[in-house]
Amino acid sequence: MVNLKGRDLLSIADLNKEEIREILNLAASLKRGEKQYKCDKTLGLLFYKASTRTRVSFTVAMYQLGGNVIYLEPGTTQIGRGEPIEDTARVLSRYLDILAIRTFAQEDLQTFADYSDIPIINALTDLEHPCQILADFQTIEENFGKLEGITIAFLGDGNNVAHSLLLGGAIMGMNVRVATPPGYAPKAEIVEKARKLAANPEQIIITHSPEEAVDKAQVLYTDVWVSMGQEGEAAKKIPSFQPYQLNERLVSLADKEAIVLHCLPAYRGKEITAEVLEGRQSRVWDEAENRMHAQKALMACLLGLT
Ligand code: CP
Ligand code: NVA
Repeated sequence: MVNLKGRDLLSIADLNKEEIREILNLAASLKRGEKQYKCDKTLGLLFYKASTRTRVSFTVAMYQLGGNVIYLEPGTTQIGRGEPIEDTARVLSRYLDILAIRTFAQEDLQTFADYSDIPIINALTDLEHPCQILADFQTIEENFGKLEGITIAFLGDGNNVAHSLLLGGAIMGMNVRVATPPGYAPKAEIVEKARKLAANPEQIIITHSPEEAVDKAQVLYTDVWVSMGQEGEAAKKIPSFQPYQLNERLVSLADKEAIVLHCLPAYRGKEITAEVLEGRQSRVWDEAENRMHAQKALMACLLGLT
């Protein structure tokens, strides 16, 4: 029996296969309207970076669970004036029932978790984006009926989204290929961890060849070339990323029934062409919608509502 009550989600690898399966099954069932919860819990959203999807989907999900939401940011709290995370975390956990944090360093998220006695959710750090990956998996299952054995190709920057896909894909028995320009590969320790989590380490492929990555893949995935906090690197980065643009040529090398995912926001003409983003194979709007169902399921599990 899976029991996630009181747990944190700092990395997708905090969950095992059975626990991810439980959340995805509940997310699908919530989306179909088969289950409803009525709670009086309060979710805090503490965001050090911008957000549209994560902020709104968490907010609506908590309202639909019957609870309340408080949005917090450094500039309008004492955090921006230097109150330590250790103090903020202890105080917030006296008021809130669950807290989702979007920040820069994974270590800061870890400190929040260490000093809080409520569930802490990673709403994106520089290292990982686990909530995104739950919604991505829900979307993949809606299209292929399974995750196990599915090949996903991620093109572009070896960033937070790539890291969580590598770890989550390995846990769920998927083949994950990541193609990046030299110098932008995913972190070695994440790749190593993904290979350890995979039943077979060959399920994880890191390459500089976009063609090798997309070859007969069933899911094509890309993300921005310049993540939040890296704006100063944009001019240097963009030229070497051009061959990794998800365009019709690369889509034509994938499985004929391949689907296209992008966590959004998307920059048409950069990491993805408008034709591919708006094309027949794109599932990006379902993927964005699924953020809400997947996070509603996640919160129901962490709050012990299930
Ligand atoms: N995909 C995602 O996390 O989007 P936001 O930055 O809008 O939350
Ligand atoms: N990699 C991107 C994802 C945005 C949802 C970033 O961190 O900005």
